[in-house]
Amino acid sequence: MEMKRVAVLTSGGDAPGMNAVVRAAVRSGAALGLDMVGVRHGYSGLMNAEFIPLGSRDVGGIVQRGGTMLGTTRCLELKTDAGQERALQQLREHGITGLVVVGGNGSQSGAYALSKKGLAVVGVASTIDNDLLGTDVTIGATTAADIALEAIDRLRVTASSHERAFLVEVMGRDCGYLALMVGIAGGAEAIVIPEIEVDPEEVARELRLASERGKSHAIVVVAEGSRYDADGLVAYFKEHQERLGFDLRVSRLGHIQRGGTPGIFDRLLATQLGAAAVQCLAGGCHGVLVGRIGGQVVTTPLAEVANRTKPLDTQWFELGRMLAT
Ligand code: F6P
Repeated sequence: MEMKRVAVLTSGGDAPGMNAVVRAAVRSGAALGLDMVGVRHGYSGLMNAEFIPLGSRDVGGIVQRGGTMLGTTRCLELKTDAGQERALQQLREHGITGLVVVGGNGSQSGAYALSKKGLAVVGVASTIDNDLLGTDVTIGATTAADIALEAIDRLRVTASSHERAFLVEVMGRDCGYLALMVGIAGGAEAIVIPEIEVDPEEVARELRLASERGKSHAIVVVAEGSRYDADGLVAYFKEHQERLGFDLRVSRLGHIQRGGTPGIFDRLLATQLGAAAVQCLAGGCHGVLVGRIGGQVVTTPLAEVANRTKPLDTQWFELGRMLAT
């Protein structure tokens, strides 16, 4: 079917850079003579035909904005056959023949489901968690990491002044990427991630040793998806009356990491992948995710990406541990 009308939606957790994808997709589409449409509120909006025409001017002034101008949702209904059929019907009724889905794991699994039912879909890898296969790094992860890193740097200042330890909990769902990267870059004394089981006793020991070595502070970066998250560690330390060598405070960064202004890396990645997604569709390539591997824009079949997660490179963990002396 000739590609004439293409819709773009953002889905799942917002990520800094999503707007830059929308802008690049809309303007590339316009350059190719396509009629571009935005879908409000992710897959929920798709099922309710919340379509808005998007011309080049409509996406002006958003490249630097965090969040998503289209809005986003976590839509459970799209997991059902009825939900998928409804989405496809709305697209048909509005003459839309191609769809760009900007989002992370759940969103790309939805894209795959629609693609299996015959829709021309291209996914764009975007989540702060960086747990998607098909790309070295997802749009938004670098900005989220920078935000967490700045928070850690600040927490170290106050930790040093008071000779305290801080547990800093970062997002990432079940993936330790953000925690591991910011833990190493922030010089954490210990890093706790879901991929590597740690005994809380070991964390307590690291803190004690840091105090004995004369450190004036200790930072533990904890991924929210770890078996022992910040709450779990605090409960353990209390129950076991651990002597940590420091007074302890907890800081949960949570959604603060998601709402930032995209940095240059994410703006450029988003621009490159947003344009590539529309070029793919226009060239008849679909059922794929666009990402960047080894500096090159690549496409990976959604079948290989959906319902799976990218394994973490745990070599970093050993490096971090070695350097935290
Ligand atoms: O997937 C992105 C993410 O920010 C995860 O890191 C986090 O676990 C989750 O979304 C939070 O979801 P919500 O915004 O729905 O609370």
